[in-house]
Amino acid sequence: MQSSDIKVSLRKIPNPVGLVTAQHNEKRDVTTVAWISKVSNIPPLLMISISPERYIHDLIKQSGEFTLAILSEKQEELALYCGSKTGYDVDKFQEGRILTEKPFYIKAPLIQDAVVNLECRVLDLYTTGDHTLFIGEVLMAYGVKDDTRPLVMTDQITSLRL
Ligand SMILES: Cc1cc2nc3c(=O)[nH]c(=O)nc-3n(C[C@H](O)[C@H](O)[C@H](O)COP(=O)(O)O)c2cc1C
Repeated sequence: MQSSDIKVSLRKIPNPVGLVTAQHNEKRDVTTVAWISKVSNIPPLLMISISPERYIHDLIKQSGEFTLAILSEKQEELALYCGSKTGYDVDKFQEGRILTEKPFYIKAPLIQDAVVNLECRVLDLYTTGDHTLFIGEVLMAYGVKDDTRPLVMTDQITSLRL
């Protein structure tokens, strides 16, 4: 077997593409994520890995809450938009005319037409390498569309990462 570039090789691990939303006081943001995973059934826990450079990072840290929407195959454009703009410069919800719905337990909005939306409370966070792992307890799940396939990370999407 031939050795290959580590960064390129890690991109071969398939990941679903999602949007994370967070709100702290009047500040809010929505950001594309792919480094996400389930980590426990009881209690239901998931993990998102967020760079401290992202605007959304401190909103999650300060509010202790976030939502994760797993996007559908039809929402690639939305994923690229939210993954190429930053909340430091624009309100992506407004500029991108992102369709949202009211959450139940937390403040950050849900994303319309996603495969699933999950409301999460931050249970733990770990700084590891150049990212922060936020462990979220899933408080509420919405709108599982069984016939809709999730958007999966491709090389084309990867090349647009900041
Ligand atoms: C497909 C895709 C997946 C991404 N996954 C992540 C991720 O898992 N974690 C992360 O910190 N940034 C990820 N990014 C980068 C952020 O979405 C991007 O830097 C965004 O502009 C940050 O916005 P913000 O500053 O408003 O938070 C991804 C970008 C794309 C396009």
